[in-house]
Amino acid sequence: MKQYTTIYDIENISNAIQEAIALKENPFAHTHLGNNKTLVMLFFNASLRTRLSTEKAAKNLGMNVMILNVNDAWNLEFEEGVIMNLNASEHVKEAAQVISQYADIIAIRAFPSLQDKEKDISEWILNSFINYASVPIVNMESATMHPLQALADAITIEELKIKSKPKVVLSWAPHPKALPQAVANSFVTMMQELDINFSITHPRGYELSEDITKNVPINYNQEEALQNADFVYVKNWSSYTDYGKVSPVEEDWMLTKKKLNTGKFMHCLPVRRNVIVEDAVLDSENSVVIQQAHNRVFSAQIVLKKILENLQT
Ligand code: CP
Repeated sequence: MKQYTTIYDIENISNAIQEAIALKENPFAHTHLGNNKTLVMLFFNASLRTRLSTEKAAKNLGMNVMILNVNDAWNLEFEEGVIMNLNASEHVKEAAQVISQYADIIAIRAFPSLQDKEKDISEWILNSFINYASVPIVNMESATMHPLQALADAITIEELKIKSKPKVVLSWAPHPKALPQAVANSFVTMMQELDINFSITHPRGYELSEDITKNVPINYNQEEALQNADFVYVKNWSSYTDYGKVSPVEEDWMLTKKKLNTGKFMHCLPVRRNVIVEDAVLDSENSVVIQQAHNRVFSAQIVLKKILENLQT
């Protein structure tokens, strides 16, 4: 693997899932791969899971890890040909090349603005680093994608499924703030690669990009969509069509125990209790969110392992 910016960078997804599950059994079997190699993690936005799980994954592989909260460093300029007489002290052209002197792999978290749709879709921060860095880039959640989360989600479904073709439903849920579409986008993209019965439910006005959903069935009736679901993945996202807006929704879309029934509850975390999902679900045995978070280590580890193996060739 040369880089990991979307799930399509994985050559064979079902093999990668099985390899990640095997890594769980023996996480320190490949410490030689990361010997004298450094992962630099750049955070333009906050993180709990991604930061700790990716650092742990790198250390499981014997790597050194350096972390920079970019907002604590110089303000970066991303525009070409700009006269830099305002707040930005350094251009990404120099910054990406300089960081590449210290890193064998650079991992980046950079959320969207949710104000300028075209700019967000262009993935200007992630792509600037891909353009100017001289080492592989790993996406730790960009404007439109969260591929490490999607891989952890796929690993979790593979571990827990009790039928060969489980019914998996992605359900929108309410949230007081405008959130990105990245987790939903990557989950939908990943689910289309698996041999499952997959559908999406959300209120009208919360359609994701058709480039992402393609032919996945969409049901605007949540209770109907969730019937007999084996896995219910709940996530909020702001409107894609009325970009970044939180439009009012009349029906109650919070996931309840009654709606979930016997299915497994999935969420990427962090989650707002009794807004996205009621306590009775989150505190029940049907919730698999902690296993999902645990699997973030092994999704990152299989990705870093494949990139390190490629660096050796
Ligand atoms: N799920 C996830 O990416 O969590 P963090 O935002 O805490 O990294």
